[in-house]
Amino acid sequence: MNKVCIIGASGKLGQYMVRHCLERGYEVVGVCRPQSVGKLDAYNDRMTIIPGRTNDRAVIEKAVSGCDGVLTVLVPWGVDYYSSGTAQAVLDFAEPDARLVFSCGWHITKDGRDQYSRLFTTMLAVIGKVARLLRLVDIDDQVEACRRIFASDRRWTVVRGSDLEEGESEGLPVWSQHVGDAILKSNRTRRIDFGLFMVAALEDDSLIHEAPAIVSCASESALSASQDAGK
Ligand SMILES: NC(=O)c1ccc[n+]([C@@H]2O[C@H](COP(=O)([O-])OP(=O)(O)OC[C@H]3O[C@@H](n4cnc5c(N)ncnc54)[C@H](OP(=O)(O)O)[C@@H]3O)[C@@H](O)[C@H]2O)c1
Repeated sequence: MNKVCIIGASGKLGQYMVRHCLERGYEVVGVCRPQSVGKLDAYNDRMTIIPGRTNDRAVIEKAVSGCDGVLTVLVPWGVDYYSSGTAQAVLDFAEPDARLVFSCGWHITKDGRDQYSRLFTTMLAVIGKVARLLRLVDIDDQVEACRRIFASDRRWTVVRGSDLEEGESEGLPVWSQHVGDAILKSNRTRRIDFGLFMVAALEDDSLIHEAPAIVSCASESALSASQDAGK
């Protein structure tokens, strides 16, 4: 991996990914909204910043050119198909063999075999409806974005984050294929480690065409799963 594009580089997750990529010695290109360029001041002498909305196809075409890897923060902002527009542009314009890694949450399901608590589904339905009425967020559009990724024959991975918290790194998160698996029960990951997993996925071909649901390796459920495996 030599050159990596980070789409949504100025957000919290994006900035962690910029840091991890620079630490690995990758050449980094970042796309962020024009008003957010200043959030990357700490890195601007070590990366190329392309200002623009992430669903602007011309911006994405330019940004991903020549990149071996593309890390995309999928966010369902607004009601103008921001997530699906972003995902489609990456699928359309990334280099043919590029590794594509997308972020989302546990609510996305690849095969319908995830098991959610009633509280989780109720909260998601209520928050989704209110946010859409206020025209702030369209969760269904993030679902559509992932549907298109899952249907694609590109070299993709969709990383599904648990609830996130700030703090020092606890190490590379562990993962499972389905929400509801015991290892994920703690439902917490440091945001810095979400970024670490996304960046590590670029070089992990075993994650191609997977939608890993991640959890902190230091969480109670991860530790007790590893103890059980050692028995
Ligand atoms: N938050 C959670 O608890 C949680 C849990 C699980 C998974 N995730 C996933 O983690 C990823 C990152 O989420 P995050 O919550 O940590 O946020 P984040 O990293 O801060 O990213 C938010 C992104 O959205 C952009 N953004 C903000 N307002 C916008 C607007 N009105 N229009 C267009 N773009 C806008 C930000 O760009 P600017 O810098 O320009 O503002 C930034 O790139 C997402 O894929 C999310 O689905 C989050």
